[in-house]
Amino acid sequence: MIKATTLEDLDVIKDIQTRAFEEPDEAELVENLLNDPSAAPILSLLAYKDDNAIGHILFTKAYVDGATAALLAPLAVDPDHHYKGTGQRLMKEGLKQLKAQGVDLVFVLGPPDYYPRVGFQNNAGKRGYPAPHPIPKRHEDAWMVINLSGTDVTGPVRVAKAISAKEYWTE
Ligand SMILES: CC(C)(COP(=O)(O)OP(=O)(O)OC[C@H]1O[C@@H](n2cnc3c(N)ncnc32)[C@H](O)[C@@H]1OP(=O)(O)O)[C@@H](O)C(=O)NCCC(=O)NCCS
Repeated sequence: MIKATTLEDLDVIKDIQTRAFEEPDEAELVENLLNDPSAAPILSLLAYKDDNAIGHILFTKAYVDGATAALLAPLAVDPDHHYKGTGQRLMKEGLKQLKAQGVDLVFVLGPPDYYPRVGFQNNAGKRGYPAPHPIPKRHEDAWMVINLSGTDVTGPVRVAKAISAKEYWTE
């Protein structure tokens, strides 16, 4: 089961993010994004196995002139539940809901051979969508886009304030 999160889910979300990334940075990023007006509208989903939350995905607003856009970050699955399709289920459900809301473009920076499993295309920069900060050449493939509407709008991508610091894009 996948459900939209509520304010009461914050501790569970932070626990999953911290366990998955083995450090607290992403959990803090999620909290900052949830409190960032420039990140709205937000789509935050938890995946459950039985009654236990085992995965979390966050989409926040991204800005491309002439299009409606979102950024996927971060995605985390409890390490005890890896390799069972949870990450892909969360992405598919999120993309379905964003498409229904009229979002044209969704971006992600992450493992370049994972996100294409649900349709993301590598090297969004080369496709006309420069990242908020230049991505080092060796990681160009990791900046990805999925076009949900068939829009032909291209242009530079900006993101919410809480995730706009250079450190999120160049390390
Ligand atoms: C990446 C992550 C979300 C995947 O979740 P999951 O539910 O285990 O993934 P799924 O079951 O949907 O997919 C599993 C497949 O993806 C592959 N995969 C998992 N992590 C991967 C990665 N970092 N890079 C490339 N492929 C990866 C697995 O090898 C597996 O491949 P297979 O189907 O050929 O066996 C999870 O490993 C995680 O939380 N990792 C730590 C946080 C993280 O790195 N988040 C994403 C980067 S922002």
